[in-house]
Amino acid sequence: MTERTDVVELLKAQHTRIRDLFDEVANTKGEERKRHFHDLVRLLAVHETAEEEVVHPFARRNIDGGEQVVKDRIAEEEKAKEVLTRLDDMDTDSPEFLDQFTALRQDVLAHAENEERYEFAHFGSVADRGKLVNLARAVQAAEALAPTRPHPGTDTALKNVATGPVAAVIDRTRDVVRKAMS
Ligand SMILES: [Fe+2]
Ligand SMILES: [Fe+2]
Repeated sequence: MTERTDVVELLKAQHTRIRDLFDEVANTKGEERKRHFHDLVRLLAVHETAEEEVVHPFARRNIDGGEQVVKDRIAEEEKAKEVLTRLDDMDTDSPEFLDQFTALRQDVLAHAENEERYEFAHFGSVADRGKLVNLARAVQAAEALAPTRPHPGTDTALKNVATGPVAAVIDRTRDVVRKAMS
């Protein structure tokens, strides 16, 4: 990613990273799986929140039929966040985890494809590259504000840094982004 990366390139690269992390979780076990899942949860929470605060509002205002396209995407995101929250409380080596994780992976990858096809594909015809580069900067700024969560197994020094459920990471990210943009 460079200074001149536009928002579509940025979000597609994040979709690729999300897809890779899903594979890494599926293909590992134990501590390693926990670590990959932890990274996936944070990336998804931050990515989806930045989309909801920065990208979807742009799409809603600018693309043809934007209202409905965005409504459908947000419904997909809400569903994914619910499953993610449930998974976050589960033992990552349990069969229930793998079942729900597999379903989530399908849903999230379908969601990313829907975004690329029905939403992002129209950006180039409603905004010039400069605008899309600025939007990418806004997404990156939003993501940089998101709280971090300590990795599982790291100890006390980090205990105060935004530990807690997925929902809290999402809420806090949304709050700081909204404050920064107001
Ligand atoms: Fe999304
Ligand atoms: Fe996305």
